[in-house]
Amino acid sequence: MKTLKVFLGWLIAGLLLIQFIQIKVPEPPKAKPGDEIKAPKEIMALLKRSCYDCHSNHTDWPWYSHISPVSLEVKSHVKEGRAWLNFSIWNQYSEEKKQKLYKDIAKSIDWQMPPEDYLWMHDEAKLTPQERQMIKKWALSHVKEDEE
Ligand code: HEC
Repeated sequence: MKTLKVFLGWLIAGLLLIQFIQIKVPEPPKAKPGDEIKAPKEIMALLKRSCYDCHSNHTDWPWYSHISPVSLEVKSHVKEGRAWLNFSIWNQYSEEKKQKLYKDIAKSIDWQMPPEDYLWMHDEAKLTPQERQMIKKWALSHVKEDEE
């Protein structure tokens, strides 16, 4: 019993201490209204539902996103996700970068994106195979093949 108490004491102390470790997500890049990606309504709905938390300036921060160690994972996802691809500033990207991203979207939508651990907590972001196909077709429709 004593060992259990000592153990719990250390556990709680550890969890409290780890709260001092926090990642700071940089301020999102400035976006003008016309900078956001334009896509057909049903595609926009899917992107907003499944991608926008990490790939836009519109992140919904859940309560646990402020509690370490979970917050470290969540914030680094958003930080990196935005750095790779930010739909809110899409029209600031060069044509070349857009082309690359359309290809990456078509590739990653098969299984990598949205990340598995995000889906554990976000049922609403799960995509059916048909929805994945829709996003893939949309992305590929923008890829100019002759550049390959
Ligand atoms: C939980 C956060 C999160 C969500 C939600 C998410 N992503 Fe990502 N995404 C990331 C992170 C982090 C990276 C950085 C590279 C990596 O970890 O693979 C990334 C990278 C990417 C890349 C570029 C590099 C690559 O791996 O191809 C594309 C394209 C991408 N995501 C598309 C999407 C699309 C499309 C959706 C929605 C269907 C989505 N992501 C949802 C976090 C997320």
